[in-house]
Amino acid sequence: MFKTHELNGKVAFVTGASSGIGRRAAETLAAAGATVVLAARRYDRLVEVAGQIGQTTGQFALPVVCDVTQPAQVDAAVNEAVQECGRIDILVNAAGVGILKPAPALSQADFDLMLDVNLRGVFTVTQRVAREMQRQGQGGVVINLPGSMGRAVMANAAGYCASKWGVVGLTKALATDLKRYGIRFSLLYLGGVDTPFWDGIDMRIQRDKMLTVDDAAQAIVYAVSQTGAAVVNELVLQPESHQV
Ligand SMILES: NC(=O)c1ccc[n+]([C@@H]2O[C@H](COP(=O)([O-])OP(=O)(O)OC[C@H]3O[C@@H](n4cnc5c(N)ncnc54)[C@H](OP(=O)(O)O)[C@@H]3O)[C@@H](O)[C@H]2O)c1
Repeated sequence: MFKTHELNGKVAFVTGASSGIGRRAAETLAAAGATVVLAARRYDRLVEVAGQIGQTTGQFALPVVCDVTQPAQVDAAVNEAVQECGRIDILVNAAGVGILKPAPALSQADFDLMLDVNLRGVFTVTQRVAREMQRQGQGGVVINLPGSMGRAVMANAAGYCASKWGVVGLTKALATDLKRYGIRFSLLYLGGVDTPFWDGIDMRIQRDKMLTVDDAAQAIVYAVSQTGAAVVNELVLQPESHQV
């Protein structure tokens, strides 16, 4: 679907690259020619993903430890990315957590964790990477993943929805501040994607009816591959079972 060399010379910083959507996005961006920076907490997983990317695409992939809730780690990871790869053109904010429980059972710690990773983490990483894009002076693309829970609500998702609706507001406000530097923001509203995200969730779900990580990664590469003045502001991708 994508030209192999479409993203040649581009550097993509991908959070949540140790699993699920972030991992497959990094692999697909590399297959399209990008150099990828793989950010997450589990370094051993990132090293494995980097090795696999090198083998299958021949692209350099840099693993960096980065807990998005720790601003000092984000600073260090972004600095290392720029030092090793020279620049950052694309940011995919795929780090995220979901604790889905009825609101009365949701602990304060659960709520705080989702806000910390899913919302505050997106702010911290995006601010640091956008400063770098601004300094480079050649614009950039930021992909955020509110998912369908960033535009609708469902049972057991009070904290998760709060964090994801927050990402939507944050993204629109960041775009307002940063469009003058050519930084383009895309909000991807993906329906359920079959990833380890759902492993520990105690709800009746049909994983075989969900989107695949490939569906999600293709949507991400489509959004980052726009040329000229085009920007994918918002994209809704649902599994067939959840059509409008
Ligand atoms: N799966 C879905 O149905 C779906 C649908 C729409 C949107 N989304 C969103 O898509 C994103 C990716 O989800 P996924 O399904 O790929 O989940 P996943 O397979 O569970 O992966 C989550 C990723 O987030 C990373 N992460 C968690 N906490 C982190 C932290 N504090 N700092 C840095 N990285 C952290 C994990 O890496 P480490 O543990 O190694 O740090 C892992 O790589 C999330 O934002 C999710 O909300 C998911």
